Amino acid sequence: MLGIGKAPGKIILMGEHAVVYGKKAIAMPFFSVQIRSTTSYEKGPITISSACYDGELETSEVAIFGIKTLIEKTLEYLDQPIQNLHIKIESTIPPQRGLGSSAAVSISVVRSLFDYFDEELSHDTLTELVFHAENIHHHNPSGLDATTIIEENFLIFEKGKKVKKVTSKLKGYLIVSDTGEIGNTKESVANVQKNLKKNKHLIDVLGALSEKAIPMIEEGDNQGLGDLMNQAHSALNSLGVSNQSLNALTEVARLHGALGAKLTGGGNGGCLVALSNTLVEAKIIADALLNNGAQHSWIYHLKEDEYE
Ligand code: PMV
Repeated sequence: MLGIGKAPGKIILMGEHAVVYGKKAIAMPFFSVQIRSTTSYEKGPITISSACYDGELETSEVAIFGIKTLIEKTLEYLDQPIQNLHIKIESTIPPQRGLGSSAAVSISVVRSLFDYFDEELSHDTLTELVFHAENIHHHNPSGLDATTIIEENFLIFEKGKKVKKVTSKLKGYLIVSDTGEIGNTKESVANVQKNLKKNKHLIDVLGALSEKAIPMIEEGDNQGLGDLMNQAHSALNSLGVSNQSLNALTEVARLHGALGAKLTGGGNGGCLVALSNTLVEAKIIADALLNNGAQHSWIYHLKEDEYE
């Protein structure tokens, strides 16, 4: 018997960093990448196979401590012993690039365990279990990654408020591109915090851009949104969370016809997103990014009514 659990990645369209200070952020699922976890029977202590760890859960490294706790908590919830399982984690989400890989691993593992034991899993239970692991890693203080991946919808986040769904009428293409450099969200959040006084007006600017972006997403105004993305990148750069590669590649995207381009997620490495109206334009932008040093580019079709 096999238990299978899958989870996509996520993209922050607007509002990263500002969301930590009470402004709105807009995030969406990213189905071009995925984690797939498979739970199967294997006599003895629980073993894991994944790109970052292979071996017994009990003796696992600090890096997967969150996952260890998550598996134990999930089995406790399911009233099952912590043994006789092998969990294989396969991923096409590059880690530490702002695409939500750590939350997606947690979500897919919980889903695969519930599937293995043939138990129904509600969003609430999944959220509760996954937040344990996310809290240990502290990758994402706003909790935006896990919620976006679980809900699989365009969402607006605001500290202390219930998450809101946005009905998107965007119809173009997002080009998501990986600089190949590892970003460190925890570190960039801490740096913004350190200079908060100086950064206050930039947080306000980013918050205002998120506010303006919401009606543009609802109305499908690609041109308007592209413009806001450019402004957001510039504010994020002034905030100190961009770097040379992100600045260079967002500029390459604009020079090759993108309506807008910005870093996505914690920054200082990781990924950028660019927007185009047509597939032909998206391919030109994606190729230009690869030719200028990006490690990978995905072209993601934004379809009206894809999300409720
Ligand atoms: O790097 P990511 O994708 O985990 O995104 C971090 C987003 C921040 O706003 C910088 C932090 C947060 O908790 O929202």
